[in-house]
Amino acid sequence: MAQGHYINGAWQQGDVSKSLKSFNSVSHECVYDGFEARPDQINEAVSAARQAFKTWRLVSFEERVACCRLFIQTLKDHSYDLVSAIGRETAKPRWECELEIQTVIAKLDISILAHLERTGYRMTQTGSVKAVLQHRPHGVIALFGPYNFPAHLPNGHIMPALLAGNCIVFKPSELTPLAGEVMIQCWEKSLPKGVINLVQGSVSVGTYLAQHPQLDGLFFTGSARVGHLLHEQFAAFPEKIMALEMGGNNPLVLGAFEDNEATIYTCIQSAFLSAGQRCTCARRVFVPVGTKGDHFIEQLLGRVEKLVIGEWNAEPQPFMGALVSVAAASRVLQAQQEWKDKGAKVLKTAQILKEGTALISPGILDTTGCDIPDEEVFGPLMQIIRYENFETAINLANATHYGLSAALLSTNSKEFEYFEREIRAGVVNWNRPTTGASSHMPFGGVGKSGNLRPTAYYAADSCSYPVAGVQAETPEIPAILPPGWNS
Ligand code: NAD
Ligand code: SIN
Repeated sequence: MAQGHYINGAWQQGDVSKSLKSFNSVSHECVYDGFEARPDQINEAVSAARQAFKTWRLVSFEERVACCRLFIQTLKDHSYDLVSAIGRETAKPRWECELEIQTVIAKLDISILAHLERTGYRMTQTGSVKAVLQHRPHGVIALFGPYNFPAHLPNGHIMPALLAGNCIVFKPSELTPLAGEVMIQCWEKSLPKGVINLVQGSVSVGTYLAQHPQLDGLFFTGSARVGHLLHEQFAAFPEKIMALEMGGNNPLVLGAFEDNEATIYTCIQSAFLSAGQRCTCARRVFVPVGTKGDHFIEQLLGRVEKLVIGEWNAEPQPFMGALVSVAAASRVLQAQQEWKDKGAKVLKTAQILKEGTALISPGILDTTGCDIPDEEVFGPLMQIIRYENFETAINLANATHYGLSAALLSTNSKEFEYFEREIRAGVVNWNRPTTGASSHMPFGGVGKSGNLRPTAYYAADSCSYPVAGVQAETPEIPAILPPGWNS
């Protein structure tokens, strides 16, 4: 069923004693049936990438772009396979999977632009002397993907890394190996052997790869817990590049908001898009005390009640799919119970809609004044926190160790000026959802959300290092010699 691991231009089976399977969290169909990579295969993948780097780094930028264009063309031809792999493995609705593919396709032109603008060539000449700035690729990069965007997020690193001249060993999430495999099948025809390699597996494969001594860098998108662990492991290697994109405990603040459907829509898109499985989802919604706030909450609860939740391929399509796994749904229910135990008032209970599946309805709890842990709950669970004045709301919104995304719903531009200045986050939106990040902009956060190496438009920055030089055709004696030269 599975092709396995793609190493040095060929597909290999893995460790037959360690099966790797992925399942749909509603139908429970087995989507991927294969084996984890063996340590010797991981070694081989890293060696293949190192060998390929010797020539790939010398390939012209135009040729690398051509390889990436070929990938995009192949991906378009196989978009049905990738949509189906993502939908079956993540349980996201088909419309979301299709949007994900569009984002992958759009990434190439953005990455080309970013590469040239952020890491291009610059030369200034003064007399016979040139000051030259150019950029060099790092070498072999290990790349770790999360499950929520199994194509778009790895691609957000892969495309810029390849354009810069790096070679890659990619480990997809163990929950989405098929999506990873289909992606690599699309690269297979576009690149020389060894430039991109795929090793599949769970934490043990990830751990082995991350600690491989032959790596020049590691690009990771995933949870803060794992990101911090990897950072500790890399602590002894400051010479290696590391880009970490982690989660958030993101605030959405309602200031002088309009009491209408657009406000409700923006709030739902912030908290419950992708069933709350976006790193940018709003987890904490700050609502002013008083009748306007009460009315908003009432309208919100009514609208959320009507959201259609269903299987990834249901017709007509649902707004929300299931969570990636039954375990992920259980974690949401567990967090809901913990918040209740801490005194939260349940406004809408998150509950499993079909026994034994990860189809779960959104939960909304009023946690005002409760001591809720500063942790990301990666699912459709919203805290509502009532506040007395705007400054207090911003202080509470900033009371997190994370800092990925934040948004303000307000028609008062003075409020937004204050919000934009004071809120601590890498994505700061106004009257748009917290989930509305643009690929044309850098993407990343502060605090526990990352290590200040944003992706999207700034991904190029992590993919190469600058080399600055002062150059002349011949050495020369300057007109003014240093003191003591002729003594
Ligand atoms: P995860 O941290 O569990 O796993 C991410 C990847 O790391 C997987 O490939 C996994 O196998 C691997 N991994 C796990 N433990 C490892 C270890 N000890 N050593 C090496 N590799 C290891 O994340 P997930 O559950 O797949 O994804 C959801 C998380 O990702 C959420 O926290 C979400 O906020 C975050 N996320 C962040 C962004 C962003 O750009 N900031 C985007 C999407 C998702
Ligand atoms: C996410 O929210 O998980 C990823 C955001 C993006 O890159 O679009």
